[in-house]
Amino acid sequence: MKFFNTKILGTGSYLPDKILTNNDIAKRVDTNHQWIVERTGIHERRIADPSKDETPSGMAAQATLKALEAANLTPNDIDLILFSATIPDMFFPNSGCMLQHKLGITNQCPALDINAACTGWVYALPMADAMIKTGLYKHILVVGSEMTSSFNNWDDRNTCILFGDGCGVAILGRASENEDSQFYSSVLAADASKKDHLILEAGGACKRITHDVLEKNEQWVRMTGQEVFKSAVKTMASLSEKVIKDAGKTMADVDWFIPHQANLRIIEAVGQRFNFPPNKVVVNVDRYANTSSATVPIALDEFVREGKIKRGDNVLFAAFGAGLTAGAVFFKY
Ligand SMILES: CC(C)(COP(=O)(O)OP(=O)(O)OC[C@H]1O[C@@H](n2cnc3c(N)ncnc32)[C@H](O)[C@@H]1OP(=O)(O)O)[C@@H](O)C(=O)NCCC(=O)NCCS
Repeated sequence: MKFFNTKILGTGSYLPDKILTNNDIAKRVDTNHQWIVERTGIHERRIADPSKDETPSGMAAQATLKALEAANLTPNDIDLILFSATIPDMFFPNSGCMLQHKLGITNQCPALDINAACTGWVYALPMADAMIKTGLYKHILVVGSEMTSSFNNWDDRNTCILFGDGCGVAILGRASENEDSQFYSSVLAADASKKDHLILEAGGACKRITHDVLEKNEQWVRMTGQEVFKSAVKTMASLSEKVIKDAGKTMADVDWFIPHQANLRIIEAVGQRFNFPPNKVVVNVDRYANTSSATVPIALDEFVREGKIKRGDNVLFAAFGAGLTAGAVFFKY
């Protein structure tokens, strides 16, 4: 059987225009810009406007058009859509199908949603890589598109300061024989013993939205911040070390580290654990906050478009999220 090396053919991202600053949030809850910056590194975040189709699938359509252009492909070249959304457009049809429709794809490619919360996009990558490697699909669109403002409780200062909306995508395909792009290694994990630390219970099959649920404000995200923080640092560091070792490389071989953008202190703590030079760690949490599974592909797209990440660079992704899920992927861009 012939195997192919996987290459990121093109990337794209979309951020809504509307900016919500820390001072804007401080008008509603008891917080302030300095506290938020000191504890999280976040200065502002974007907020989607569904009336402008800034929905998970709508933002993904805009980001995908940019990725298609970068990859020199057309919508009908996509033969599989893997769509990570913590809160999808709707329960069904899935956001992947909504995106297929918005892109005008007529080739009937399969389209499915993946929910591993903030780790969703990183979860989808090894799946896409395996299907490219084995030749099952040629051009897989991997989307992380999130409207966190739809689960954010704007009256809860513990959580509402953290999240923002946005989308990042990558199109994965085959590297040609004279190229050395490849996915070296990946590891995915989940520890459900910590499932209650970051949770949105209501709205699904177990707890429908009722008057009682709304009165108790159970339709919003709930979080035990410090537990998530500790777990995030530990798992992102250990999974990163594992993928690098599995690839037969060392930390010195990593050109760029793109961690999930949840909190600057988490990012710095992970970097320090393996003595990673700060100038190789990609950070944009100050501008966009935590866009859930979109943080890593947005950061990738920004750094590729700014010419910082170049062909041949070794890139490490690491993410964590509700579940608690976690994952790391190491590849040559
Ligand atoms: C949420 C988080 C920023 C809180 O920071 P922290 O340093 O752990 O702060 P604590 O929860 O210990 O709270 C310290 C104090 O600040 C207060 N506080 C909490 N949020 C506040 C806010 N937005 N503004 C001002 N004060 C706030 C708390 O009430 C507490 O007050 P107290 O000491 O009087 O009880 C931090 O725990 C975190 O980022 N955790 C990870 C969350 C995450 O990444 N989630 C997404 C995962 S994908």
